[in-house]
Amino acid sequence: MSEASAGFSGHRVVLTGATGGVGRAVADRLARGGARLALIARGAAELQELAERLDAAALSGDLTDRDFIAAAPGSLSDALGGTPDVVINNAGAFAVAPFVDTEPETFERMLAVNVRAPFELTRALLPDMLRRGRGHLVSVGSVAGRTAFPGNAAYSASKFGLYGLHRVLVEELRDSGLKATWIEPSAVDTPLWNPLEPDQRPDLPSRSEMLRPEAVADAIEFVLSRPENVNIEELVIRANSARVGDGERVAEE
Ligand SMILES: NC(=O)c1ccc[n+]([C@@H]2O[C@H](COP(=O)([O-])OP(=O)(O)OC[C@H]3O[C@@H](n4cnc5c(N)ncnc54)[C@H](OP(=O)(O)O)[C@@H]3O)[C@@H](O)[C@H]2O)c1
Repeated sequence: MSEASAGFSGHRVVLTGATGGVGRAVADRLARGGARLALIARGAAELQELAERLDAAALSGDLTDRDFIAAAPGSLSDALGGTPDVVINNAGAFAVAPFVDTEPETFERMLAVNVRAPFELTRALLPDMLRRGRGHLVSVGSVAGRTAFPGNAAYSASKFGLYGLHRVLVEELRDSGLKATWIEPSAVDTPLWNPLEPDQRPDLPSRSEMLRPEAVADAIEFVLSRPENVNIEELVIRANSARVGDGERVAEE
């Protein structure tokens, strides 16, 4: 699965967080499969470079900015040549701190990026997708979205929230022709970990113990290529390592 790519020719895909570790792997995979991609992230130069390489559309903007979200249905439809077939809410923010040291601003930022933005983007795009009667909404969650780890108050609150949104979508979309999938990786070796320097910290999984971003791309490729009447509601991906959490044991320092 990781070498070959399923056929996505003609599929219009919106991918947030496209310039991050997971986003790049997913973008590469879907572009190789022939998808028409609209890529979203804040950093315009990086995004433009990636989009040019993949012959994709670049929409640089902050997903926590309500004006950006309000304009998204029109700009995405223009960029893709129609209503998206697939929306992958992958952009995310991560921070770890003991509960009492979690700044309210950090808490608000996690909620804004990890749960409010996917809610607002999905809410903006869903009416056209429902009218057309097909489409696939993919939420990139986390092991920390269903399991508690010390040090994850803000991140876990946001990912548990995203999981709740996903479950509601699954229930509301039954019989609509649309699908919704929760992708749940354990720690993935990406730039998200850079501020924590995990290889210098025995309390964190080392980068070599983490999943590779391509494992998440494998999972997304798999769920998107199931037959029309099959929805993989949840796909859990774990590294074969005992220490696989997001920020596991950080608060015990
Ligand atoms: N890495 C892990 O261990 C791990 C484990 C489980 C789940 N996940 C989840 O996987 C997803 C991808 O994570 P990653 O590891 O690839 O992270 P990453 O390398 O840090 O990439 C994050 C991406 O999100 C974008 N982004 C962040 N804030 C944004 C905002 N306000 N508006 C628009 N774009 C924004 C970033 O681009 P800009 O900064 O340019 O905006 C970047 O493209 C996240 O949802 C994360 O929670 C990660």
